[in-house]
Amino acid sequence: MSKEIRPASHKPRIAIAGATGRVGSTLTILLASDPVDITVLTRRPDAAQLPKGTSIAAIDFDQPHTLQNALRGADRLFVSHGTSPQQVTNEIALIDAAVAAGVRQIVKLSALGPASRLNPFAWHMQIEAHLAQQPVASTILRPSAFVDILKRAAGQIAAAPGRARLARGARTLSIRVTSPT
Ligand SMILES: NC(=O)c1ccc[n+]([C@@H]2O[C@H](COP(=O)([O-])OP(=O)(O)OC[C@H]3O[C@@H](n4cnc5c(N)ncnc54)[C@H](OP(=O)(O)O)[C@@H]3O)[C@@H](O)[C@H]2O)c1
Repeated sequence: MSKEIRPASHKPRIAIAGATGRVGSTLTILLASDPVDITVLTRRPDAAQLPKGTSIAAIDFDQPHTLQNALRGADRLFVSHGTSPQQVTNEIALIDAAVAAGVRQIVKLSALGPASRLNPFAWHMQIEAHLAQQPVASTILRPSAFVDILKRAAGQIAAAPGRARLARGARTLSIRVTSPT
């Protein structure tokens, strides 16, 4: 397989799948001020609200060639796919397209272990196993839960008698973590 030779000053191009989502959108905003080029892969290019300078590539998981086209020229891929019964098929298709397109490193947002038969944990383990077999550098991130979950639950917590103080604290903490500086 021939690989394009790029000058040393080449800015790395990072493709982000899931950049319209909770984790991916925060990552995209943070990376936008770094010396990198960003390509966002999305099924909804018209709905995507992204930082200035970000390239958008429309993808359709039912048309695999759109994945490979979107990933051509990317050095790295960050996969942050939403939880869904299609997640295993879609993420494996993304990984395979990235390898075929010459992406050099794939970072997958997974979920905490240990291995479990419960979904989405089992889905993540299947995807991790597939990624481990590919001829590409890979990084697996296994977060437990992000604090924005508390923000989403704040309304319910506030509605419960005696819990309003926790809800207020959760909102404050969430804003500190998710706002780019
Ligand atoms: N949030 C947490 O606290 C947390 C904690 C641990 C692990 N994780 C893992 O992190 C990953 C990302 O979580 P998230 O909360 O950031 O995801 P999310 O906001 O629910 O979704 C991220 C993006 O995935 C894309 N997507 C593509 N196909 C999809 C489909 N069939 N169904 C749903 N979304 C689809 C969508 O982008 P387009 O519409 O633009 O294509 C969507 O905006 C998940 O796999 C989750 O298990 C999350």
